Amino acid sequence: MSTESLKSTDFSFPGQSARYNGKVRDIYTIGDNLIVMVATDRISAFDVILPRTIPYKGQVLNQLAAHFLEDTADIVPNWFMVMPDPNVSIGLKAEPFKVEMIIRGALVGHAWREYAAGQRSIAGVSLPEGMKEYDRFPEPIITPSTKASVGHDEDISEQDIITQRIVSQSEWSELIGYVRKLFARGQDSASEQGLFLADTKYEFGRLDGKLILIDELHTPDSSRYFYADSYEAFVKGQSEERPKQLSKEFVREWLMERGFSGQNGEVVPELTNDFITTISERYIELFEKLTGHKFHKANEKNASVRIEKSILEYLETNR
Ligand SMILES: Nc1ncnc2c1ncn2[C@@H]1O[C@H](COP(=O)(O)OP(=O)(O)OP(=O)(O)O)[C@@H](O)[C@H]1O
Ligand SMILES: [Mg+2]
Repeated sequence: MSTESLKSTDFSFPGQSARYNGKVRDIYTIGDNLIVMVATDRISAFDVILPRTIPYKGQVLNQLAAHFLEDTADIVPNWFMVMPDPNVSIGLKAEPFKVEMIIRGALVGHAWREYAAGQRSIAGVSLPEGMKEYDRFPEPIITPSTKASVGHDEDISEQDIITQRIVSQSEWSELIGYVRKLFARGQDSASEQGLFLADTKYEFGRLDGKLILIDELHTPDSSRYFYADSYEAFVKGQSEERPKQLSKEFVREWLMERGFSGQNGEVVPELTNDFITTISERYIELFEKLTGHKFHKANEKNASVRIEKSILEYLETNR
């Protein structure tokens, strides 16, 4: 089924000044300050691009990010301007801060794995004793990580961020204010739809001396979502069944069960067709749950031709 899925693009637009392939998105810079972000169907886990693509994943990511960027523009200005195609967003190019702002409301994922291994501090934030997996923190904690140019991102403390001048003290204060407000909004939106947003990641950049939110927002790639009722039941001990995941975390778990966690020398297990279908369905399910709208599959056949045409049309009429 995945043969028609969007693996990568290689366009050359009028005025194009740079092209960059991220793990998931292909980014084209037009002139000095416009970026065209194409969300492909690639999937990465533990900073490695997996060998197969996931149908409709790019469309889900792009449409969800656009939805939330529009929904939070009252909290912090962001880069997003327009969505000329289901897989494409166009907006302002910023100078990205070399730090990922991670905020966690509960002990899951990476934080739980560190905690279970005996760590009682993440990115300089100390963690209470006696917590169990899935327990909520008394207050959400902010545990930034570096944006490594190569290799794995690593946790970094507030103090190191400032002494290494990744951001200034005043920018840091502004950042954490935005991060807390965005997360509160994200958790509220999720809970209105019966979901629990356990943690997420934000990226920011500088544009004309001002801070703006860049990249994706509250998507299944950047966030961990659960069904709220199953989460509650488990935490309260009313159910033995682990809370149902609606984000990429279940892919990481599937890989770990098969001996892959992104370490050197490990081999990526082969993704079966069934598992690929499951991942695709979960992404679509999350889209529908979160937005309350039905997901309309864009035609995946010749998607790259469609995408190029939509972008060209936008650029021709707007520049
Ligand atoms: N408005 C923006 N201005 C400049 N850069 C941006 C903007 N929005 C997102 N980016 C950058 O675009 C890239 C998004 O692509 P993607 O998420 O596929 O990459 P990634 O795998 O997260 O990162 P990388 O491959 O760079 O480690 C990220 O490097 C992100 O920092
Ligand atoms: Mg990214």
